[in-house]
Amino acid sequence: MNIIGILETDHIAIRLLNKCIGVNIDPGSFKTFHLFIVNLHAKIEDDILFPAYREAYKNDTEIIYLVDRISRDHELLKTLGNNVIKYGESGESELYKRRLERYLYILIDHNTSEEKLLFPLWDDINGEIRLQADKEAVELVEKYGYQEYTRIIRMMGKNI
Ligand SMILES: [Fe+2]
Ligand SMILES: [Fe+2]
Repeated sequence: MNIIGILETDHIAIRLLNKCIGVNIDPGSFKTFHLFIVNLHAKIEDDILFPAYREAYKNDTEIIYLVDRISRDHELLKTLGNNVIKYGESGESELYKRRLERYLYILIDHNTSEEKLLFPLWDDINGEIRLQADKEAVELVEKYGYQEYTRIIRMMGKNI
């Protein structure tokens, strides 16, 4: 398994979840989904992928700016997702749906930016940096719990 493969698989599962369930996801499942995004998917990007880009492209201000911009979306999504959970738990279904719609829109747009602007640059990075990133990404998946990881991917695809 390589890091880009792991992240792209997640992105596909996220798109399917959006298409097949979207704002009809129940609050409990959304919480599981959001915690997966924060504690695994975005963590792989923040702790491994983005630092590798920053290292490999340290002299390219445009790419550094791009990585910073994309990584800032994670903070926004984290806050927004926590609000969705809050509204879900307090039974404010109108606000829950409205914030969830916004969350999914931003998340998918964000993922598309990563796929179009960042992932294609990965192959140009020195092989040693890439291998190290692959190794660390697999370690994070294992630490999160491989069973938990596949359970969440399955949960995202269960209505397909
Ligand atoms: Fe991301
Ligand atoms: Fe991503």
